[in-house]
Amino acid sequence: MSPPPILASLADDMQRVDALIRSSLASDVALIRQVAEYIIAGGGKRLRPAVLLAAAEAAGGGGEARYTLAVVVEFIHTATLLHDDVVDESRLRRGRETANAAFGNATSVLVGDFLYSRAFQMMVGVDSMRVMQVLADATNTIAEGEVMQLLNSRNPDLDEAGYLEVIRRKTAKLFEAAGRLGGILGGAGAQVEQGLAEYGMQLGIAFQLIDDMLDYSGDEGRIGKQLGDDLAEGKPTLPLIYTMRAGSKQDAELIRAAIMHGGREQFGNVLQAIRRCGALEYARDAAQRAADAAQQALAPLAHSKHKQTLLEFAAFSVTRGY
Ligand code: IPE
Ligand code: IPE
Ligand code: MG
Ligand code: MG
Repeated sequence: MSPPPILASLADDMQRVDALIRSSLASDVALIRQVAEYIIAGGGKRLRPAVLLAAAEAAGGGGEARYTLAVVVEFIHTATLLHDDVVDESRLRRGRETANAAFGNATSVLVGDFLYSRAFQMMVGVDSMRVMQVLADATNTIAEGEVMQLLNSRNPDLDEAGYLEVIRRKTAKLFEAAGRLGGILGGAGAQVEQGLAEYGMQLGIAFQLIDDMLDYSGDEGRIGKQLGDDLAEGKPTLPLIYTMRAGSKQDAELIRAAIMHGGREQFGNVLQAIRRCGALEYARDAAQRAADAAQQALAPLAHSKHKQTLLEFAAFSVTRGY
């Protein structure tokens, strides 16, 4: 998996980020390097660092610290993926076996901890209390989101508002931090910083709505993950929530039972029910509205090449097939 073409305008910067990612994995514990490099070499879209870099440039620059913080957000993201794949019992990520499948759950959890704490070492080096506050809050909120999600696994009564709260915390909060940090580094005033933070939040919501849609309708080869992971875990995501609300009584019952039971056996039937009542379109429309809100949040920013890049990221978050 390689970065999407919309990152082309940031290609040189992203190369620096990649080099810094690699040099920041240093440890005298060989297994840490092995596992961290395994997941990082799998690629990934690198969208969060790209948001931070573009936001910093759009806000006025950002200096060298922007590379450090770009790596910090990617490390926090990667740590959450290592932990998330253990919790979700996922087998495929970035087109290869997950780290938990290849090295075991214990190794994944512990290397995830290493990446979190390395991110915090790097962040402290930036020597800004504001920056540390933003990242500490975001990391804490992500953990809350993942636990909220765990509490709702196999719960067919989670409603759309509750679902949105989970995705705001587990996913959108880190995008929000990336946008806000760009604003802080670029030396933007409060209004622009808030605009970039709101942009990140809305972008993250759109991004996760589409991720949850792709878990039913994506192309495995392209997304590099196994379809049906969410159903297998009994995760009540928007396509299911909408079908229980708007579908026939029979379809609603089918989905309810599938969430409570978990597993992949009903995947084909669930997919048909979702399609029948237009739940994928409903989820896509919700993502489109969030992406529109992300673009509108950039209104306080002067026009620039990098603002344009941010606008394109918002469009990509909805149209993406991976
Ligand atoms: C996956 O994020 C986890 C979600 C928040 C949906 P990405 O889709 O950004 O994962 P990579 O980094 O590109 O693999
Ligand atoms: C995103 O949720 C996970 C985090 C924000 C840590 P998912 O569980 O949907 O992510 P994928 O589909 O495994 O990438
Ligand atoms: Mg997962
Ligand atoms: Mg997913």
